[in-house]
Amino acid sequence: MNLSVNIGKLKLKNPILTASGTFGYGIEFTDFFDLNKIGGFCTKGISIEPRAGNPSPRVVETASGMLNSIGLENCGSKHFLNEIMPKIRDLKCAIIVNLYASSEEDFVRLTEILSKEERINAFEMNLSCPNVKSGGSAFGANPEIIQRLTKAVKAATDKPVIVKLSPNVTDITQTALAAEAGGADALSLINTLIGTAINREKRTFILGNKIGGLSGPAIKPVALRMVWQTAKTVKIPVIGIGGISSFEDVLDFLIVGAKAVQIGAYNFVNPAIAGECAEKLEEYLEKRKENIDQLIGSVKE
Ligand SMILES: Cc1cc2nc3c(=O)[nH]c(=O)nc-3n(C[C@H](O)[C@H](O)[C@H](O)COP(=O)(O)O)c2cc1C
Repeated sequence: MNLSVNIGKLKLKNPILTASGTFGYGIEFTDFFDLNKIGGFCTKGISIEPRAGNPSPRVVETASGMLNSIGLENCGSKHFLNEIMPKIRDLKCAIIVNLYASSEEDFVRLTEILSKEERINAFEMNLSCPNVKSGGSAFGANPEIIQRLTKAVKAATDKPVIVKLSPNVTDITQTALAAEAGGADALSLINTLIGTAINREKRTFILGNKIGGLSGPAIKPVALRMVWQTAKTVKIPVIGIGGISSFEDVLDFLIVGAKAVQIGAYNFVNPAIAGECAEKLEEYLEKRKENIDQLIGSVKE
């Protein structure tokens, strides 16, 4: 059965992806399932130079979810290309590299550095991290900056560019339209919602960074609404993210118009979930004698 979808120039064998920051560099998950079963994965956000991230504690469990304030800790572009790429290049699924930079110049330079690596299938620009002081949310809420950064990154590479949007805005369709106007090949949404948690004994914030990003099943209804609104508004493909914890959740996102989905925090609960969702999607469509294009955007309004 053909489950393939096109995200601009990026061809995926099926619409199941895993989300940045929740799936390491892919290789960590090969003990749990065969990565050949999924469309691809997004790496942890990579910056030009290594980053240490935020002070600990950096994660806290919440009702039906978690808060994180990792602050984009990562090994940097040089280590990624020299040490990690050789370990992941033979994986049989798409490799999408999530990009983080705190200025337009650095976004362009990072894109140029990583574009030399042929095995990278696409880039995902993180314009929406709530846990860093520069860049991140500051970029993610401003349509003009989004359009400018997208255009600059697009001009620096031939690879497909996905722009990842923040839910921490009043109207996500405005930032979505800005990314589309900047030439984005696709959009992915949502990143985490800003939250906090309190240690009431000590009367302190639990997270070292005080605030963090909320993810997990708790955010699914918000994400689903934003994906639906965005998919109706833009012409480019939308990738749905937020609280997916089951195959049924995958269906919901595809039905409201997502062309693909990313599974995030639930990888920590069940590291094999992405492979299971891909298998179940195939069974579902086979049983209903339906093809993937009939499912995507099939919500009755
Ligand atoms: C621990 C953790 C680290 C994350 N790191 C990144 C990151 O580096 N870049 C990024 O764009 N999103 C990052 N995210 C956001 C996720 O990719 C995803 O957008 C978000 O968690 C919502 O999906 P979920 O509810 O399925 O987790 C991170 C999320 C978590 C939980």
